[in-house]
Amino acid sequence: MGDILLVLQPWIKAFHVLAVISWMAAMLYLPRLFVNHAGLDAGSEASELLKGMEDRLYRLIMNPAMLAALAAGVVLAILGGPAIWNSLWFWIKVMALGGLFGFHGYCTRWLKAFARDENQHDARFYRFMNEIPTLAMIVIVVMVVVKPF
Ligand code: HEM
Repeated sequence: MGDILLVLQPWIKAFHVLAVISWMAAMLYLPRLFVNHAGLDAGSEASELLKGMEDRLYRLIMNPAMLAALAAGVVLAILGGPAIWNSLWFWIKVMALGGLFGFHGYCTRWLKAFARDENQHDARFYRFMNEIPTLAMIVIVVMVVVKPF
């Protein structure tokens, strides 16, 4: 069983990277939709159109991709064993992941507020928030690829 999993390891890693790309694409795009949505009148045709786009992006891509990235990442961590858990780069990645999961949670909250026509923030706010997943992504990719610590 262990041997099979080790043979599968590169495939699981490929799946992990594909899931991560989809998760990041959604988390970078959704706040851009919020930037456009924030300036619109509640109930307008454009606002309703954006609600549909946000909902589909979140339900069909962002949530499933997050779960797939997490599941594959946990399997990779188990297969990698102590060589991974005892490395500082991995724990720095986990901290940056905490930021990404928190951001995902805030996106859920903002999305629901838009859906109820109760958004509280302006376009500048969402433009600024858009930088958080970018920063976390840079930290994570440098940690897993360069492994500097
Ligand atoms: C969701 C939770 C996540 C967990 C538990 C996790 C865990 C892991 C583990 C254990 C590895 C194998 C590392 C190795 O063998 O050296 C890995 C590889 C990788 N992870 Fe993640 N990861 C997660 C999310 C992410 C995210 C959000 C990104 C990018 C923004 C990412 C990017 C990568 C990349 C690029 C690799 C391949 C590195 C390589 O072998 O060159 N991961 N991940």
